[in-house]
Amino acid sequence: MHDFAIAVTDKPALYRDLAAALDALTAGEPDPIANMANAAALIWQYLPDLNWTGFYRVAGDELVLGPFQGKPACTRIPIGEGVCGAAAASGEARCVIDVHDFPGHIVCDADSAAELVAPVIVEGRVIAVLDLDSPVKGRFDAEDVAGCTALAAMLGPRIVES
Ligand code: SME
Repeated sequence: MHDFAIAVTDKPALYRDLAAALDALTAGEPDPIANMANAAALIWQYLPDLNWTGFYRVAGDELVLGPFQGKPACTRIPIGEGVCGAAAASGEARCVIDVHDFPGHIVCDADSAAELVAPVIVEGRVIAVLDLDSPVKGRFDAEDVAGCTALAAMLGPRIVES
């Protein structure tokens, strides 16, 4: 329905455009699953060199797979395990240059080489993580962390279960 293909010349500008599109897509929509689904699809369309992107939601002491784009993935991840679990446990983004160097990395797609996980925090509580995987080692940098952290902050109130 929507086509957001754009060229990447300026990463902060790319994330500003992405945030504006995400805002337009999710503002006023109260359904968390609809908003996570559109967010995953939009990020997938906007950002180059991804092989997976989507959400894991906090459920008790686990992360449970949410809406995503890419190959089928691990359904449940204990909080504290893997890149996603580390981000959820600490409440801080994780930017991994080479997943093979990350102790405890959980392999969902053998093509993944780099990973960025941004926690989604609402009222001081981690409710989900936004996970991006790339087949390109070193794909994510501080600008991606800042961009994805801003997306996660915007999405928090729009994907929290009421
Ligand atoms: N690699 C992640 C698992 C999730 S997938 O990448 C979709 C991790 O180590 O937590």
